[in-house]
Amino acid sequence: MNLEQALDAVNRRMESVVASDVAVLERASRHIISAGGKRVRPRILLLTYLANGGTDLEIAVPVSAAIELVHTATLVHDDINDHGTMRRGRVTINEKWGRTFALLTGDFLFTKVYELMAPYGDLNITFAEATVALVEGETLQASAAKDNSLNREIYQMIVAKKTASLFRASAMLGAQLADAEKTVVDTYGEYGFYVGLAFQIVDDLLDLVGDTRLMGKQSGVDMIQGKGVAAAVSVASDNGGVHDNSAVLLASEQQIDPFGDVKRRMIETGAVAEGQNMARIAVLQAHASLDKLPRQPYMDELRKIVDQVLHREK
Ligand code: IPE
Ligand code: IPE
Ligand code: MG
Ligand code: MG
Repeated sequence: MNLEQALDAVNRRMESVVASDVAVLERASRHIISAGGKRVRPRILLLTYLANGGTDLEIAVPVSAAIELVHTATLVHDDINDHGTMRRGRVTINEKWGRTFALLTGDFLFTKVYELMAPYGDLNITFAEATVALVEGETLQASAAKDNSLNREIYQMIVAKKTASLFRASAMLGAQLADAEKTVVDTYGEYGFYVGLAFQIVDDLLDLVGDTRLMGKQSGVDMIQGKGVAAAVSVASDNGGVHDNSAVLLASEQQIDPFGDVKRRMIETGAVAEGQNMARIAVLQAHASLDKLPRQPYMDELRKIVDQVLHREK
């Protein structure tokens, strides 16, 4: 089994594990799983497994499926919180089935993680740390957006917890599965952490400047709610109406980009440039983490992911 075959197996495993007597749970779960997605977290896990001498990708498949299901569950819940209507090019679960079923589908996906991870002993500790941090990060973000208190420092903490923690766990789990030493596991974790930081900052930039059709989700959603990198940097205290959505409502009636003006202002005030700088620093740190490890063939693939994260358009 090679890497691409393992990723196919991860997809099949996710599709099969969500089988249920309760039709709506199965349908809603498969709706989001079969829509695809970049599968970057399982890819990192499988690669760090291989990089540490792992030879049987089969044993890494359920853990990779579990990581992707945690991520998927958070997307389902995140779309409730963010009032998202489009995800992975499809209508969101909350939009199609309503909030209650979206909440329950997210819960269902989380519980399936227990099932997949039951045979993996201590690896569950890595999972638990990441999922706790994730919920803390989403909660910090909701609080900061609610009382309009986002700044650079809080933003960094939110991104570290809500996104980088799961990337860190993905990188650690592959190494742990291959029985790597603790210091090596931690260094891969550091790599994953910085990839995750860059990934979320770039996601927030795409929210400002990205193409909705390419991304498969609407842009402007995070910004308009006072979330994301733009709300955190210099414009945060004087954001010229980022949270005022009356212009958005008017513009959407006129079928023009409702966020056009605000986006332009973000670019002019340097918020986008500052976000790009933050992402570039995280990317350098990810490479520096890999520099500490012995060179081996899969290193190039891990480095490629770092650069793809920085230059991605979706
Ligand atoms: C979206 O994650 C949520 C963030 C952490 C920014 P992805 O961009 O990995 O979403 P999919 O899985 O490709 O849809
Ligand atoms: C991602 O945050 C949610 C988590 C990491 C849990 P976002 O709100 O930025 O993700 P998108 O933009 O909806 O994919
Ligand atoms: Mg969102
Ligand atoms: Mg976003």
